[in-house]
Amino acid sequence: MTISALCIALTAVVGIAIADAVPFERLDINNSVLLIVDEQVGLYHVARDFDPTLFYNNILAHSAIGNIFDIPVIMTTSAQEGPNGPLPREILEMYPNAPLIRRNGEVNAWDNAEFREAVRATNRTQMIVGGIVTDVCTSFLSLSLRAEGYSVWANVEASGTTTELLRDTANLRMHAAGVQLVSWFAIVMDLMRDWRNPPGTAGMLPVIEKYFPAYAFIAKSHGAAVQNGTIIDGEQQLL
Ligand SMILES: *[C@@H]1O[C@H](CO)[C@@H](O)[C@H](O)[C@H]1NC(C)=O
Ligand SMILES: *[C@@H]1O[C@H](CO)[C@@H](O)[C@H](O)[C@H]1NC(C)=O
Ligand SMILES: *[C@@H]1O[C@H](CO)[C@@H](O)[C@H](O)[C@H]1NC(C)=O
Repeated sequence: MTISALCIALTAVVGIAIADAVPFERLDINNSVLLIVDEQVGLYHVARDFDPTLFYNNILAHSAIGNIFDIPVIMTTSAQEGPNGPLPREILEMYPNAPLIRRNGEVNAWDNAEFREAVRATNRTQMIVGGIVTDVCTSFLSLSLRAEGYSVWANVEASGTTTELLRDTANLRMHAAGVQLVSWFAIVMDLMRDWRNPPGTAGMLPVIEKYFPAYAFIAKSHGAAVQNGTIIDGEQQLL
């Protein structure tokens, strides 16, 4: 066997071993739970690895997932009477009846018995997580959930920290533990699976306009063209 053939064979073996460690698993609306972790108005200021306006949109987008798909939501805060502050009013208004577990010391939400009980009470195994900060609140909880046998999807757009180095290091750590690092769009598309499933294009496009305008503007442009468009000089040749 030549060296390169050996390398290819070894790569294949290692590749299979890695693939087996975390089998591909899809989100299932009947088995998933949305966790909103410490997205507090004080901690928001520590999320410096995003443009602040974008990050505000991102945490609202993450929070909205529960209502879009009618999946259980659990909110938690750390020391919210102190500098970390409460969750933004916009998030609280989305879920007036969801559990909100106020931790008065535990850094890792999993260390709080009430939080663990709320997760177990859902009888679901797929946890979608977003939190501030990525390297502490999101990572600690996600790693604990993995250790307990849960599957975890970390919404990389809904967690923030001080620097890109800290974000990347935290994401590597979670990835190594089998946490799936995903975008908001990946989460909602995986939950919906097919545009003919609820909420469908009629339900999703208004949500996408709010939280993922890059895609909504394709629909706006197409809709406007069909409704009142004309082909301009030179355009016909492009079609
Ligand atoms: C979720 O449950 C509903 C109702 O039982 C079922 O129609 C649907 O196919 C399930 N979805 C998935 C992804 O299993
Ligand atoms: C919890 O989920 C398991 C597996 O889906 C199911 O067999 C069991 O009946 C559920 N228990 C409750 C209390 O819903
Ligand atoms: C449709 O196109 C016509 C001709 O360009 C224009 O006068 C009109 O304002 C357009 N209507 C809308 C709703 O954009």
